[in-house]
Amino acid sequence: MNNLFDEFEKKFGTLKWTHSFYAPGRVNLIGEHTDYNGGHVFPCALSVGTYAVARKREDTKLRFYSMNFPDLGIIEVDIEDLIYEESHDWANYPKGVITTFRNAGYEIPSGLDIAFYGNIPNGAGLSSSASIELVTGTILEELFNLSIDRLDVIKLAQKAENEFVGVNCGIMDQFAIGMGKKDHALLLNCDTLDYKQTPIDLTDHTLVIANTNKRRGLADSKYNERRSECEEALEQLKLSIPIHSLGDLSTEQFVSHQHVITNPVVQKRAKHAVFENQRTLAAVEFLSQGDIDSFGKLMNDSHISLRDDYEVTGKELDALVEAAWDEGAIGSRMTGAGFGGCTISIVNKDDVDSFIHNVGERYKDKTGIEADFYVVAIGDGAKRLEGERI
Ligand code: GLA
Repeated sequence: MNNLFDEFEKKFGTLKWTHSFYAPGRVNLIGEHTDYNGGHVFPCALSVGTYAVARKREDTKLRFYSMNFPDLGIIEVDIEDLIYEESHDWANYPKGVITTFRNAGYEIPSGLDIAFYGNIPNGAGLSSSASIELVTGTILEELFNLSIDRLDVIKLAQKAENEFVGVNCGIMDQFAIGMGKKDHALLLNCDTLDYKQTPIDLTDHTLVIANTNKRRGLADSKYNERRSECEEALEQLKLSIPIHSLGDLSTEQFVSHQHVITNPVVQKRAKHAVFENQRTLAAVEFLSQGDIDSFGKLMNDSHISLRDDYEVTGKELDALVEAAWDEGAIGSRMTGAGFGGCTISIVNKDDVDSFIHNVGERYKDKTGIEADFYVVAIGDGAKRLEGERI
């Protein structure tokens, strides 16, 4: 934080009237590609995230600076003239959030200076973008004294990503980052948005995130493609059974109606969405009974379904997960959108060092890539950090 304050002062003159904010990254424990299908997800907020120092301006200029992208320098735009610009890179997220807030009728009459610093590994699928969105939403809420529910901040952040940035994501990431609670995961029903904070007590186990360090190349277009495949399946199923999302179906119902889905690939996609939703509910039930082994087995099943039916894993994620299985993880799966990014594993605390070493070796042997590992803690959701600096 001190570095960020120093940087703010260097870029924007003085620290007068600044405030500081934070929003975490997230990891999803189970329930993948279910959010936009009206199913359940089970993510938690991480203890790494995006920090921001911000101050209101007297004019309508917006000036953004990120310590993570010093080469891009200060990005300056006018609040009345916000459009997506490729060259603005990361700054399109705060621009998008400001746009959706204003379009929703929230009064943001003046500009802002904001300096950002993030310690979420970039592009790893741990939601660094949703983290920037939520930290921006929190800044707007606090500095402009908006009376806005946290849920509306979350929805506007998702809208920014859908409409301003053009990625058709579901609500999981923004929700986990907005509502996260230390040492808890959230069981979220993405249809009703009802949620339950569930304590995560893994006894003598811990969560280990492993980054494939594979660039997520075509991730956005493939993601949107999966969404439309699920929509196609839903339209066909609706002709045979009255549902409004794939999340409405039990596995038995799916099995007896699946024949109406004409394209076998589309049928596999829908199968994943339905089974993953039911798996998530079962997994959370096991966890609440303290049955970590059964929770871990369902994580493994989740990966297999994402690999074979949803086809969003790829060579690197599969190699990392298989290495984790071979090295004794209680459960291991890809997490997030897929096509690269990270895995999440449950590992015995005593074995963490050897696990990281051995999985890293196996992965490198198979792919030639060096993986990164993070032993993570579950942190709080987006918040203001402290009072005004005068
Ligand atoms: C990305 C999206 C989420 C969710 C996951 C897959 O993280 O942003 O909305 O769909 O992929 O579970």
